Amino acid sequence: MTLFSQAVFSAHLRKLKTNGQRGIYKRNISICYKFCLVGRSFAFNAIGKSIKPITDHWAIKLNEYCSDLKTDSITTIQWQQRIEELYTKIELEEILKFIDFDNLIKGFEYPDLGVSTKPVKFPKLNGLPERTVFVKKIFGMKKDRAIIPHGHSNMASAHLILKGEMYLRHYEKIQQDGQNMIIKPSVDRIANAGESSSISDEKDNVHWFIANSETAFTFDVIMLDLNDKSYDIHNLDIYESEDLKNGTLKVPVLDVQTALKKYGKQHH
Ligand SMILES: [Fe+2]
Repeated sequence: MTLFSQAVFSAHLRKLKTNGQRGIYKRNISICYKFCLVGRSFAFNAIGKSIKPITDHWAIKLNEYCSDLKTDSITTIQWQQRIEELYTKIELEEILKFIDFDNLIKGFEYPDLGVSTKPVKFPKLNGLPERTVFVKKIFGMKKDRAIIPHGHSNMASAHLILKGEMYLRHYEKIQQDGQNMIIKPSVDRIANAGESSSISDEKDNVHWFIANSETAFTFDVIMLDLNDKSYDIHNLDIYESEDLKNGTLKVPVLDVQTALKKYGKQHH
């Protein structure tokens, strides 16, 4: 089943199909922890392969940054910078083991259009609350499939490429009305496993990933309903952009099914 049809863009894109059901997501953030990896106040940490205090664990840092964003202790741009910096300090292998990636992708159903997601469960860890303040998922897709181009309102998310190679584009959101968004290109590059990107209302709001490898996966950390407002997603018809001749583009907003059909699979 596709991401959209099974409502697993969930934290994210399901809203497009089920406007008004946003409360569901918060309830669905609830996580069941099944096993305990660390029961003491120290743990083996991949950074420098040394024993470090458990508070140094990347998952605890991640939750701390998200809590800080939730309480407005840091800005969304600081949140983006801190998470992306954190990812540069952790060995990818450590993250893959921690989220049990091999198990997560067993029997993974790759849709013909777009992507599928699976929720991520962190192992129990001292210092890490059972319910993280963020939604966490992996997104997986086959070659040439895309996380279709879309912008966001009242949310922030960070995306670590776990496997594969992707063509990544971001755009700043300059202005928005109901039918169009004015955007400005900000990122246009190939991204490989271990690299990350992020979005917020303030920075790199629109993103678009296309898998260049046979399969590709991202790990997504998603914060919803920022600014005490409901989050929203806006699928964009980038191919129909109007060049405003000042470095910006005026882009029509699309409904999800039309957007998936047009952008869910690249045709060469
Ligand atoms: Fe997104």
